[in-house]
Amino acid sequence: MRPTHSFNDRPRPDSHVIVIFGITGDLARRKIIPGLYHLFVAGLLPEHFRVLGCGRTQSAMTDDEFRAYAYNATCQFAATAPREDEWARFAQSLSFSVDPDDGPRGVEAAVARAELEMGGGVRRLYHLAIPPDAMRDVVRLLGSKGLNENARIICEKPFGVDLESARELNHEITAFFDETQIFRIDHFLGKESIDNILALRFANELFEPLWRRSHVRYVQIDVPETLSIEGRGAFYDSTGAFRDMVVTHLFQVLGILAMEQPTSLTARPLRDEINKVFETLRVLDPSSVIRGQYAGYRDEEGVAPDSTTETFIALRAWIDNSRWMGVPFYLRTGKCMATSQQMITIGLREPVMEIFPDQRDVDSHDGNKLLIDFKDPGSIHAHFLAKQPGPDMTLGLAKMHFHYNDSFQEKNNLEAYERLLLEVMLGNQALFTRSDGIERLWEVAAPLLAAPPPVESYVKGSWGPPSVGTIVSPNDWTLPE
Ligand code: BG6
Repeated sequence: MRPTHSFNDRPRPDSHVIVIFGITGDLARRKIIPGLYHLFVAGLLPEHFRVLGCGRTQSAMTDDEFRAYAYNATCQFAATAPREDEWARFAQSLSFSVDPDDGPRGVEAAVARAELEMGGGVRRLYHLAIPPDAMRDVVRLLGSKGLNENARIICEKPFGVDLESARELNHEITAFFDETQIFRIDHFLGKESIDNILALRFANELFEPLWRRSHVRYVQIDVPETLSIEGRGAFYDSTGAFRDMVVTHLFQVLGILAMEQPTSLTARPLRDEINKVFETLRVLDPSSVIRGQYAGYRDEEGVAPDSTTETFIALRAWIDNSRWMGVPFYLRTGKCMATSQQMITIGLREPVMEIFPDQRDVDSHDGNKLLIDFKDPGSIHAHFLAKQPGPDMTLGLAKMHFHYNDSFQEKNNLEAYERLLLEVMLGNQALFTRSDGIERLWEVAAPLLAAPPPVESYVKGSWGPPSVGTIVSPNDWTLPE
């Protein structure tokens, strides 16, 4: 269990009323409620705050029921079990409101009450943990009641389902909130190991000079999951692996990996550089994509019996700029796979001269690469060839390892959602997607969405359809190691 660290010397956000739409959903239970509790215990929440769980009339709870619900979610999903005294203090701030009820239990009245209790200078934070088609109504409700003032809004992914819907959604939201108030969240950008890529590249001269086409043969971003669709049949069947994981998480990781050095780590330069990568990302060629569906998916609750939604996807992407021209970026993710890992591989080129007698016999795919395991707590591994001890110059595979959990104070670690919720309260947009970036990604996706290749079946617990090797050929997938 993760011990809780206190960050008492850090500046705290202003007083906040935090309204969570979609409070009965999976995300609120797994991440948002436990995340807010951990921020509270770590001393990172504002001194004065209220959390309003907001749900539909049919799932309405009393405040006490909501506190019990939040407690259970925290016990089940927080890294640290709640301590009784701390939970009692946190729970005082929790209440339930009904969306879009106009009465005393409605959002408007509940926000007004919370603000009155806290006194002046309160910021409003709305977390829209709801599907893209439900966001519009909530945004209109907030705008029509003047609740958009002094407010920030978090929009969950996927942001739209294609270019047109993302544009419409951007249009709808910007009618009431300006871009500085909008935080399109992608929790992979809040992961320690993803942010560490910035440090690895730009705080060292060890790697960055190699980080380009002259030295890199290919890049892999591989996120297999053993998880299935976990009772999210209806959501998943209309979303699929590409929208759920690639347009959002994997492309964002690609942006961080491939970007040029920003002039600073503040929001504008950082997002400018990430968006430049998206601008030069070649539109997807459906013939470089494999879509898979695990056997038995169509029998899951909420899934159409003739569904062609993919639960697995592997694809080859290209970045047409002077740093990356000709270097394939291989992306893969899927449900019900053999293992759960989150692995980046930077495969380096081989030296032009072969002066070692057995150089050709050593498997060049094993040596000569950098692996970034970004599944919490994260690690980095350099694989290289070394001389084996003895009278002959015989090469063997050697490895150097860095593990977060035995190298730093892991107790300082914030889970991705915690980090990002804190950044929103502090008003820092650096790790959030900008409208032009997300629209460009849907543009890149358009040919695939228009003409997706047929889904190929794969066995649960496998590495996807048998054809998956063709995406990386003549290279290999690093996983399974
Ligand atoms: C979510 C997806 O955004 O990310 C899930 O909707 C996926 O399908 C999850 O399992 C993976 O994120 P993490 O951080 O829990 O590995």
